[in-house]
Amino acid sequence: MNLSLNKDKIVIIDFGSQVTKLIARRIREYSVLSEILTLKDLKKKNIFYNVKGIILSGGPSTVTKNSFPKIPNEIFNLNIPILGICYGFQLITKQLKGKVRANIKKREFGRATLIKKKNSLLTKNFFNNNKSIVWMSHQDSVYKLPVGFSTIASTPESPMTIVENNKRKIYGIQFHPEVTHTQNGDIIFKNFIFNICKAKKKWKLELEKRRIIKEIKQKVQKDKVICALSGGVDSSVVALLVQKAIGKNLKCIMVDTGLMRKNEFTTSFRIFRNKYKLNVKIINSSKQYFKKLKNITDPEKKRKIIGNLFIKLFEKEAKLFKNVKFLAQGTLYPDIIESRSATGSKTSKIKSHHNVGGLPKKMNLKLIEPLKEFFKDEVRQLGNSLGLVKTILKKHPFPGPGLAIRIVGNITPEKVKILQEADYIFIQELIKNNLYDKIWQAYAALLPVKTVGVMGDSRTYEYICLIRAVVSEDGMTADYFNFPKIFLDKISNKIINGVKGINRVVYDITSKPPSTIELE
Ligand code: XMP
Repeated sequence: MNLSLNKDKIVIIDFGSQVTKLIARRIREYSVLSEILTLKDLKKKNIFYNVKGIILSGGPSTVTKNSFPKIPNEIFNLNIPILGICYGFQLITKQLKGKVRANIKKREFGRATLIKKKNSLLTKNFFNNNKSIVWMSHQDSVYKLPVGFSTIASTPESPMTIVENNKRKIYGIQFHPEVTHTQNGDIIFKNFIFNICKAKKKWKLELEKRRIIKEIKQKVQKDKVICALSGGVDSSVVALLVQKAIGKNLKCIMVDTGLMRKNEFTTSFRIFRNKYKLNVKIINSSKQYFKKLKNITDPEKKRKIIGNLFIKLFEKEAKLFKNVKFLAQGTLYPDIIESRSATGSKTSKIKSHHNVGGLPKKMNLKLIEPLKEFFKDEVRQLGNSLGLVKTILKKHPFPGPGLAIRIVGNITPEKVKILQEADYIFIQELIKNNLYDKIWQAYAALLPVKTVGVMGDSRTYEYICLIRAVVSEDGMTADYFNFPKIFLDKISNKIINGVKGINRVVYDITSKPPSTIELE
């Protein structure tokens, strides 16, 4: 699949910032195609074909050392507008012979007030009364601009916060316009892509949908495709796209691990079979999962066991279907971006995410990954245009290992049952109170400690239920959701009265970082 043909696009050269993805999303929100490139990609032929603008992202490196990641100097002479953000700005400065220094003692981190110095195409409608609040995160700073550059805006700490070389259409920004903490940050991108790069709005999901269906049809022809369906939005959208392309030649398999939310699997199964007429088979393997997970407490071990068993079961089932040549799976664009290193450095692994879609290559099936160019919100839009029901479309993300990583410590069928009930109460209340769609991800978890309580006249000694609800843009960072006290009271009451085995409810008020969204 090639998205680049005949489309204006903006490329983002990634220097490893945690928020590079957000730049790409901001641009696509304006219906312009954006793609993230690594430094390695720059060696490919015709990589700048149809490119209307280049953005250099932020990153953890410093240009004040002897060696640092850089772009070939020829890129500055391509006559394509360039915007450098944070490290990208420092790199432009360095490569064009300006000066950057390392502020060893002083970092500028957090909100800063930016003051306008002069007009620029990049900042049209960006300032309010010649000021704006922006998000800074840097240690190095530019102190001498390259020839031909001038300052557009400054903060008290950074005299050169936005700069430009109007003639060469090269711009630099020290803050991060891509994060929501920066006021009007999206206007910077809008100005860059339309006023400066003159890109046209050619990125339309409806057209992409038709293109994907056509390409699957051409690729698969009369062969058969299998798909692992979880009932989450990604695999559901994949199944509907493939079904549109090849109809009955798609076979779907749902492996029930017994670690799903209450009623979730059977409800999704019925929807797929009855509403969408998908050729879907459910495999109940909860007994095997509980057996393998018995007495396992280590989160990474849990993930490995669940992932490996899934593959085994799926492979076995797949063999029962004749003439299957393709495997369809819901790999998303962030999965691809995150699994490659921007500058060649290795970032430390926090959790090995077991993605149910991550099936082994040795199955000898060719892959169909129709979502690999899309962000989650775009996948939801595709799903919407395919008529996917709201309950699946708006579903919060759910981890591949399911409730196993929401039961801290060892897993038993009884604990799963207790957790399913508590989680069900919590989620139903969120829906009833119109809170579900305001939250990025919410769930209940079971802590492996028992505490004393009193119910009626009797002493109880039962588990603690932890509830978590976060707002986030993409799961990389998250804030806990601010519930009204009255809602928390209600949840606590309903869970304790409704679920035998829990006598205490706590609300997790940590953000990510320093915590992660899941407990394990
Ligand atoms: P964390 O806990 O790392 O989670 O902050 C970020 C997002 O990833 C999901 N997650 C997983 N998804 N397999 C998955 O498919 C996993 O092992 C896994 N661990 C976390 C998590 O639910 C959140 O949306």
